[in-house]
Amino acid sequence: MPRIVVVGSVNLDLTAEVDRLPEPGETLAAGALRRVPGGKGANQALAARRLGADVTMVAAVGKDTAADEALAMLRAEGVDLTAVRVDPELPTGHALITVDAEGETTIIVAAGANARPAVEPADLAGADAVLTVLEVPDETVAVVAEHAPGFRVLNAAPSRPVDPGVLRRLDLVVVNRAEFAALDGLDAAGAVAVTYGGEGAVLRRGGVEVARAEPPPTTVVDGTGAGDSFTAALTVALLAGRSDADALRYACAAGALTVSRRGAQPSLPTAAELEGML
Ligand code: RIB
Repeated sequence: MPRIVVVGSVNLDLTAEVDRLPEPGETLAAGALRRVPGGKGANQALAARRLGADVTMVAAVGKDTAADEALAMLRAEGVDLTAVRVDPELPTGHALITVDAEGETTIIVAAGANARPAVEPADLAGADAVLTVLEVPDETVAVVAEHAPGFRVLNAAPSRPVDPGVLRRLDLVVVNRAEFAALDGLDAAGAVAVTYGGEGAVLRRGGVEVARAEPPPTTVVDGTGAGDSFTAALTVALLAGRSDADALRYACAAGALTVSRRGAQPSLPTAAELEGML
């Protein structure tokens, strides 16, 4: 069983379901409001866990009841939370999400305690892979890039510039179409996976496309967490020694299953579901 450490964000997602996304200045009535465990880091941790990895989460939450809600699924499914610290001053991170009838989303994140997770190089010891995201500060991402043993993965979302020295140390960077266009210097990383929603994904090494895959057909209900599911699945598959093409196909299928169901963490597939789909 691969050992994966995720250094990232934990959020409580407040998700409103609407027929269409609001225009600027417009007020809309929601069909439903849900409180769902989320956060890009926590979603990737649970996704990797459901795909058979032994997972430790390194993160920070507030001293509040939202933390219990946000961590509930990770705890129930055996993600090691001993490196999740409680910040006495900041609240647990929250995401305000709208999902329209086509599954299109808008997401606004209030970082709270995710703004200062305390990661120590010792937290990373013994990992076969370390995943991180841009919902934690640059300094945290830099600690991963410098000290992580094994395979170093960054899901560069939400988009912001990343230090070239950090990119050079990474084995895999995962971005969507918009992040790929916005981020300079990505090809310095060992590999770059670019996701294109329903059109699939491309894997590049040294600036050259080495694999391309399409997702199985699916009905999109809620796009939340698709990138997280894709990132975790690609990491698990590459760690397992799958070829670039097979690993990309596996990751696309994970993303497709995730968008076919509602919510971030409730929608993440298991290994059995994925193998069944493929
Ligand atoms: O990638 C989806 C996640 O982005 C949501 O769960 C939300 O918390 C935001 O971090």
